[in-house]
Amino acid sequence: MKDLDIFIKELTQSLKNKIFVKLILSKPYEKGSDLKKVTVKIVEIKATPMLSFLYNHKTKDITKNHSFKEAEKEINNLLTNEMRNCVLFTTESNIDLNISKKKKVLISRSKPIYKSLIEPEINRMKKRNINIENNAYLQKLGVTTKNNVLAKNMQGKFKQINRFVETIDDLINSSNLKDAKKITVTDMGSGKGYLTFAVYDHLKNNLKVNAEVTGVELRQGLIDTCNGIAKECMFSGLKFVQGTINDYAGQVSQMLIALHACDTATDDAIFKGITSNVEIIVVSPCCHKQVRKEFNITGELKEITQHGILEERMAEMVTDTMRAMILEAYGYKTKIFEYISDEHTHKNLMISAVKTDQKTNKDEILNRLTALKKTFGIKNFYLENLLK
Ligand SMILES: C[S@@+](CC[C@H](N)C(=O)[O-])C[C@H]1O[C@@H](n2cnc3c(N)ncnc32)[C@H](O)[C@@H]1O
Repeated sequence: MKDLDIFIKELTQSLKNKIFVKLILSKPYEKGSDLKKVTVKIVEIKATPMLSFLYNHKTKDITKNHSFKEAEKEINNLLTNEMRNCVLFTTESNIDLNISKKKKVLISRSKPIYKSLIEPEINRMKKRNINIENNAYLQKLGVTTKNNVLAKNMQGKFKQINRFVETIDDLINSSNLKDAKKITVTDMGSGKGYLTFAVYDHLKNNLKVNAEVTGVELRQGLIDTCNGIAKECMFSGLKFVQGTINDYAGQVSQMLIALHACDTATDDAIFKGITSNVEIIVVSPCCHKQVRKEFNITGELKEITQHGILEERMAEMVTDTMRAMILEAYGYKTKIFEYISDEHTHKNLMISAVKTDQKTNKDEILNRLTALKKTFGIKNFYLENLLK
């Protein structure tokens, strides 16, 4: 496609002339395609400008960074195989490319909608990740060694930390906290504090907001260790308190996280989040015992319960579906996705919920929940009971 080459040359020129703002690919060739949209923006990585691709799939978002040369190839590839529409936004014009069913390329130009580069976004994304170099808390938590390299067996944990921070970043950007100068976070069941420290570091040092982060944890030993490290690192807005999620009487913040909290502890955390009207709730469930015990399945579905592992997975799916429905009923835009590959941890499912101003039909959602419970013979769902 010769015209496609012309478009790619326009892209190259816009990058060279520093007038590139962003590029959006949409309209998949295949109707049922999992990939819905790709947004491309400039980021700086170690002082080198690169193009960051945000791939919006049906149920997950993936970010990949490419050099300009690689990016041109990737955009060519996407337009040849995946997407039929692309808009290149520059400060001089918008260039719209459409590929017909017969692979005919149509290019049109219109007046620019962006008259200047999007500086704040570039700045915000500059230091998205957690830095290993001279990172005192990562060393003290045993993620890195004194030589600033990842400790043995800590690659997976480090990937998890970074992926989590990216997820938090995306959620903040899609919430009412987007331009907040101060962000408060409560981490329920903070454990050894890896993610709690990383969230604080990211808010404070990457996003430069006034951060107040509190970890709530059952085990006093972990509280003492984490408070000690926070003090040594002079993280004055980070503290850890001993207690159960259920009994936590402190003020719950604008963002509530609970990662790998066992069984109904995840529900306790969601309950705290909903009743405290927090802006963002992020949970990564651990085991799902409560609902499995409630199963009283008849009919064809009973076949699945003949196999323990399948019954266990079904309990996980039903529990998390019901959690998501309840969050939706209480006004949260909710997503369930794998936030990291299961080669790093099999507890890789995440439920994210962002408070919206849109009106939800609570009764209708709760009626659907009742119908779902009936299908599985569930009489009691712990989270639903808490909210009654
Ligand atoms: C599997 S660890 C996860 C730690 C951390 N959130 C992470 O993902 O790295 C779960 C932690 O939650 C704590 N925990 C379990 N139930 C709790 C409860 N009801 N209240 C407070 N902490 C709890 C445990 O002591 C444990 O440290």
